[in-house]
Amino acid sequence: MINNKQFSIFICKLGVLKKKKYIIKFFDELKDEIICFLDKEENIKVFSSICPHFGGEIFYDQKKDLLRCKWHNWKFCNKTGKCLSYPLKLGLNPYEFEVKPDKLKEYNINLENDKIFLIYERE
Ligand code: FES
Repeated sequence: MINNKQFSIFICKLGVLKKKKYIIKFFDELKDEIICFLDKEENIKVFSSICPHFGGEIFYDQKKDLLRCKWHNWKFCNKTGKCLSYPLKLGLNPYEFEVKPDKLKEYNINLENDKIFLIYERE
């Protein structure tokens, strides 16, 4: 439930989400673009759709039931947003490096009368 520090934003109707594979929307309030999708168990999930690698657009791969980036095809867990593409297995000259792919930001949702609302707190 929503407390007095939280706000909700309408994302879309559930029926619309069921027809489409996923919905991507930018919200000024969040300064973020989100992806909303139904996973194979029909759970509604909402994550940031901006890839932590270089900002590519994330989409939902329904066949594989995971999130993928359109730019360099990194994969992310549809349940946690955790990057699944590491560790890299490269055959190039080794340099010391560190990779810390952040997981995708996850949002809470509220379903009311077939309408999906994203729940957030102002910073
Ligand atoms: S920008 Fe997403 S994998 Fe590179």
